[in-house]
Amino acid sequence: MSNWDPWSSSGGSASEVTAFCFILLASLNKISLVNRPAGAGTAGVLSLCVGSEDRTPKKRFSEVQNERREQAQRTVLIHCPDKINEKKFLKFLSQHGPINSHFFYESFGLYAAVEFCQKESVTSLQNITRTPSLGPEAAIPFKSRYLNLKLRNSLNQTSELSSIQCSNQSSPSSKKLYQLLCCAESVDDQLNTLLREFQLTEENTRLRYLTCSLIEDVAAAYFPDCAVRPFGSSVNSFGKLGCDLDMFLDLDEIGKFTAQKTSGNFLMEFQVKNVPSERVATQKILSVIGECLDQFGPGCVGVQRILNARCPLVRFSHQASGFQCDLTTNNRIALKSSELLYMYGALDSRVRALVFSVRCWARAHSLTSSIPGAWITNFSLTMMVIFFLQRRSPPILPTLDYLKTLADAEDKCIIEGHNCTFVGDLNRIKPSRNTETLELLLKEFFEYFGNFAFNKNSINIRQGREQNKPESSPLHIQNPFETSLNVSKNVSQSQLQKFVDLARESAWILHQEGKDRPSPSSNQPWGLAALLLPSVANNMSLSKKKKKPASERIKNLLDSIKSSGAENSTATNGRRAISTQA
Ligand code: GTP
Ligand code: MG
Repeated sequence: MSNWDPWSSSGGSASEVTAFCFILLASLNKISLVNRPAGAGTAGVLSLCVGSEDRTPKKRFSEVQNERREQAQRTVLIHCPDKINEKKFLKFLSQHGPINSHFFYESFGLYAAVEFCQKESVTSLQNITRTPSLGPEAAIPFKSRYLNLKLRNSLNQTSELSSIQCSNQSSPSSKKLYQLLCCAESVDDQLNTLLREFQLTEENTRLRYLTCSLIEDVAAAYFPDCAVRPFGSSVNSFGKLGCDLDMFLDLDEIGKFTAQKTSGNFLMEFQVKNVPSERVATQKILSVIGECLDQFGPGCVGVQRILNARCPLVRFSHQASGFQCDLTTNNRIALKSSELLYMYGALDSRVRALVFSVRCWARAHSLTSSIPGAWITNFSLTMMVIFFLQRRSPPILPTLDYLKTLADAEDKCIIEGHNCTFVGDLNRIKPSRNTETLELLLKEFFEYFGNFAFNKNSINIRQGREQNKPESSPLHIQNPFETSLNVSKNVSQSQLQKFVDLARESAWILHQEGKDRPSPSSNQPWGLAALLLPSVANNMSLSKKKKKPASERIKNLLDSIKSSGAENSTATNGRRAISTQA
């Protein structure tokens, strides 16, 4: 039986003792609303207020994916001169059919993404587009949807040209972030500000789907019915501006098409080449697609074929969008994981704010890295936040087992023998009754994992409770679908210890903050700013060197706070209850 019962108020975890001390203070804090741009990130389905208040119908992940994919197919990407007359540009393009939307952005030059209302308009535009003559060099005549606009008689047009308003594709500088966080009204406001500044914008999301669609055109030269689908943080609602673009080549549609056409007493099959295993097939497919991207793919540079990795992939930069891309194949389970994270992100507005803060915190302290290694990954961190939110009382997020009980026939999903079934209709999940503030949750997150028995327990979002570790890796987070796997198998003991130490220090800083917050005008880093800024991160590691072993001392201090909190459980002043003179 699941522990997810939104109407239950019973139960109580160890961390609730401290939670109690904060509860009155927390209830006084205003819960800030996130001012999300319309349709931002995952098609604007996410709520703007805490859990139970939002009643807007929410779209299924598959609906969002299909809509975005179809939109991308009607879109062209155009490299423009630095200055352009926007009105004339749009008039020129609309000769090919009505335009639904467009935006400009900069990435080593000015680009426009133009979405037509109909797909035919794209073909019409391609029909009047010429292959350039490049002087002594020769062009490979590949007709894609990535185009180049040149001005005829540019001298005559100079007076009409103007600079264009570009949509922002990058996250704020550390300095700007510092200012924004220091000016915030509360820690909750800080977390929501961070989310607002770092989350993928509507335009960035469109560009990600468009890039996949352009790569699909290249792959379709070999596999006409293929699809290239984005997954990971580009679509799971936890992507930060600048994150990589994970995509996979989906060849399943080819098989389905064949199956539909067979009837009667005969079974017709394609003649194909056989290879020894699925892995070899994947390697061969990615090898030719990698070659194709390298030789003919407009804007694809630095193509690396990493075919001997556990999950073979082609890595490249898509110059026009500025994305670092990882292309894999047969990655349906990863797409299902993305759907699951998307659901969790959409269930309660606190989830994304907390995940973004924890991800940014981990990055600021070099707990995560873009280079593969013994570090914890963003995916693992997200699983930890989800698990923590399942452990609150009342829980903020349901367990995966509970989501499975809500599934109907349409949701049934078995991939490679793994049961990946869970409810796809978000509207069938009741909102949580938990009203804890982000400030409290962030502090409790650090405290929870600062004291977690990593040596014996595994994190399991399927059941929403700790389990005995089935193997000896320092950090064990059960893969939600391939349940015999550990998603954090790569994490070393020293990296885990660093995480624990920093979590304890951060819990401590937030405790102290609660007592003694500098005024916004003092320009002192406080709250989230005190945890995130690189200078602060450095200071923290310096202070750690001076006062070894800080981690244990902090743990003891936090423990003493807890027990004094328990003793003073009748106290009415949250601030007084958590203060310590230790
Ligand atoms: P960032 O790229 O760091 O922003 O986050 P991400 O979620 O996109 O992570 P990453 O690019 O490393 O991986 C892409 C997706 O692959 C993840 O979102 C997961 O769905 C999946 N994935 C990553 N690591 C693992 C793993 O260890 N096990 C499993 N089963 N899936 C993983
Ligand atoms: Mg990624």
